[in-house]
Amino acid sequence: MEENKQLFELATKAKEYAYAPYSNFKVGAALLTEDGMVFLGNNIENSSYGATVCAERVAIFKAVSEGKCNLKKIAIASDSEDFTFPCGICIQVMLEFMPNGEVILGNSNEIKVYKVSDLMPNKFTLR
Ligand code: THU
Repeated sequence: MEENKQLFELATKAKEYAYAPYSNFKVGAALLTEDGMVFLGNNIENSSYGATVCAERVAIFKAVSEGKCNLKKIAIASDSEDFTFPCGICIQVMLEFMPNGEVILGNSNEIKVYKVSDLMPNKFTLR
């Protein structure tokens, strides 16, 4: 199966363990590292809403916490028929670890691919 479609299907599976009792909006993410490893993530909510972490950052932080800092692409799935774009905080994090990477979005009949840098052309830096 084509790599992007395969990654999107893994993101859809990852959604199963999303913890989203407050929004009921489950998100799954599947991240492919430059050296071919896959890390899954899903959103993890909290009754203190600001403590919630998005699916994308869970997947990225799992990879980075295991020494995988060169990330290639990330697929995002939700139950919506619309394409679920990553939020601005997640894009900022993507620009740190996958500035040349891609975001794979999908619904039941189409896969779309975006460059991370097209989603946010200017990131925050300390300079
Ligand atoms: N959410 C994600 O997991 N990824 C995003 O890029 C945007 C939003 C989650 C956070 C929260 O649990 C739910 O979606 C509703 O905002």
